[in-house]
This record gives sequence, C-alpha cells and structure tokens, in this order.
Amino acid sequence: MFPSGRRVCMGEQLAKMELFLTVTGLLQALRFWLPDGKPAPSLQGRFGLTLAPCPFAVCMNPVFLEVICSTMAFFTHRISRSFSSSAVRSVVIKNVMVIGGGQMGAGIAQVAASTGHSVTLVDMSEDILKKSVKGIEGSLKRVVKKKFADKPEAGEEFVQKILQNVSISTDPAAAVPSSDLVLEAIVENLKVKQDLFSRLDKLAPA
Ligand SMILES: NC(=O)c1ccc[n+]([C@@H]2O[C@H](COP(=O)([O-])OP(=O)(O)OC[C@H]3O[C@@H](n4cnc5c(N)ncnc54)[C@H](O)[C@@H]3O)[C@@H](O)[C@H]2O)c1
Repeated sequence: MFPSGRRVCMGEQLAKMELFLTVTGLLQALRFWLPDGKPAPSLQGRFGLTLAPCPFAVCMNPVFLEVICSTMAFFTHRISRSFSSSAVRSVVIKNVMVIGGGQMGAGIAQVAASTGHSVTLVDMSEDILKKSVKGIEGSLKRVVKKKFADKPEAGEEFVQKILQNVSISTDPAAAVPSSDLVLEAIVENLKVKQDLFSRLDKLAPA
C-alpha cells in the first residue's frame, strides 16, 4: 500500500477537514472567553499516544444573534461608525427584521424567533410570506418530531409559541423604526442590496 514515500494515515486529510468544520462551527455558534484570572490555554500539549491538549478552563455562550450583529457591524457603515464592536455586543436586540423570506431568510427568522426575538419577516408579496411561514412551521414540526416524540401537545405548543414571534410585512420601511437589528437575505445582487439599505438607513433610528 505504501510503495514509496512517507507513510501517511489515509484518514489524515479527512480528519483535518472535520477539524476545520468543527472549529469553525463552534466559532460561529459560540462566543469564547477566559474566566477571570485564568491563564490562556497552553499551546504545548501533552505527548502520549496522541498529542493531547493540557486541561484548561474556558467560558462559552451561544450567541447566534451576537455573531450576526457583529457581522452586520462590519458590513454596515452606520453601525460600524456609531459603535465599537464591544458596544455592539451590549446592544439589546429584541425586534429583528429579516428581509427576504426565501431559504436563508426563513431560516434566520426561525432561529431568531426560536430564541425569543420578535421577528418581522419582509418579502415582496403576501403569498411568498405565507409560503415562508409555512416553511418555518414545517421545519419546526420536524424539530418537534425528534424533541417531543412522546409529548405531541407540548410539541404543538412549542411550534405555536415560536410562530407567535413571527409577523409578516411587505413594507420594510414601516417596520424599520422599531427594529433593533435588520438582516437582509434578498436576491444576490449588490446594487439591489445597497439600494435597500440606503432606503432603510434614512428611516432607521440613530
Ligand atoms: N441559500 C443558501 O444556501 C445561501 C447561502 C449563503 C448566502 N446566501 C445568500 O442569501 C441571500 C438569499 O438567498 P436565498 O437562497 O434565501 O434566496 P431565495 O431566492 O430563496 O430568497 C430570496 C427572497 O428574497 C425576496 N426578495 C428579493 N428581492 C427583494 C426585495 N427587494 N425586498 C424584499 N424581498 C426581496 C424574494 O422574493 C425571495 O423570497 C442571497 O443573497 C444568497 O446569495 C444564500
């Protein structure tokens, strides 16, 4: 199997890819920080059968919306001019507007509603929006099948509670003054995206 060259584990590349996906997944979903007074983890590791990390303490917090907020801060002049990134983190986000109710927008709206945020989902027509909400409902029902397999009533309550957090609108301008965070998931066209944000920027609170 190894006629020439260095012997390598055939799983090495796969393991590296898995490691990359695992770490980036964690970094996207969680915020990490050191507990007060604890040192940073050692980068030396411990040799044994494998090279293992030395024990270390770390705090983490699920911050889906915080990550989005920081990303938005990077991409929108308004936020990045007005706040430092640490100040952005401390902004309380209650009302979220998601523009575009397609695959991405519906998914974002679902996660935001599931985490207790009041979501206004915006698209071009009521019909599209009804389809989006149906899609969110279907997706939540799939979660219920796994999470509440033996408690169907609790499952229904779970779905309804989340759906109550989602309202729909075809007019982003009406919802923007009361929104703490605006996310777009519309058509992949920079000009259309820029036009949308320049219109909303005039209506958004300072
Ligand atoms: N689908 C993916 O896996 C994926 C991954 C990363 C990024 N994206 C990006 O996310 C964005 C949305 O992707 P998607 O897959 O959800 O697209 P999609 O086509 O499923 O949905 C886009 C939605 O935006 C609506 N829309 C278009 N222009 C609008 C406007 N001016 N105002 C309000 N609504 C408008 C459309 O009616 C449609 O419902 C795109 O920019 C895409 O490149 C998508």
